[in-house]
Amino acid sequence: MQTPANQSSVPVLTIDGPSGSGKGTISRIVAQRLGWHYLDSGALYRAVGIAASWADLDLSDPSALVRCTFDTNIGFRDDPSGEPRVIVNGQDATDELRTETAGGAASAIAAIPEVRAALKDRQRAFRQLPGLVADGRDMGTVIFPDAGHKVFLTASADERAERRHKQLKDKGVSVTLDGLLREILARDARDANRAVAPLRPADGAVRIDTTGLGIEDVVAQVLDVMSRPAG
Ligand code: C5P
Repeated sequence: MQTPANQSSVPVLTIDGPSGSGKGTISRIVAQRLGWHYLDSGALYRAVGIAASWADLDLSDPSALVRCTFDTNIGFRDDPSGEPRVIVNGQDATDELRTETAGGAASAIAAIPEVRAALKDRQRAFRQLPGLVADGRDMGTVIFPDAGHKVFLTASADERAERRHKQLKDKGVSVTLDGLLREILARDARDANRAVAPLRPADGAVRIDTTGLGIEDVVAQVLDVMSRPAG
């Protein structure tokens, strides 16, 4: 990666939204098309959540979790077929990170201001030439407020639960649709109502409702946003 003298001159596209809105899939494809780097910020929260559960830490003990955040080594790499893998403290934790248990742990630790602060610089370090697509909940509001382009993706809760259900089924994970919908709604409520960096569209973000849209339709809409002058 190439680091310019002034990192803030590196262009950024932020894609925020609730779980299951399609952020991950869309952001990865858009980053590929633009030839830019990609930050999956949710994976960082999930990785710290998993590391905390491996170490049997109390999820309500902020100081232990902050130490865990600094101590957890998180690496990203693509396997030979191009599938992204996440390595946590030297172990491939990709499959474990995708579970709703990991999502729940991530959402619990993500509500702790000190944990969010401890992850700030790690996220900003992804801002490298030729550009960055950053996906999460607070990319446009807190981590890259000066991003030139900002998108907020939404979809109905039912459709988001169905997408997650299909994704997990394809991975051989068995869960009920009803249970998933309940977990998604609980996670939405926690993410939107927390005191620090709550999930909300950044000022100037273009909202795209992906309900009923195919992946390519959404990618086209995001690329259309990118063709507008940076804000
Ligand atoms: O995006 P993903 O579902 O992987 O994120 C898991 C959890 O991590 C979210 O429910 C949210 O609580 C937290 N998160 C966050 N800020 C981000 C990315 C994720 O609070 N930028």
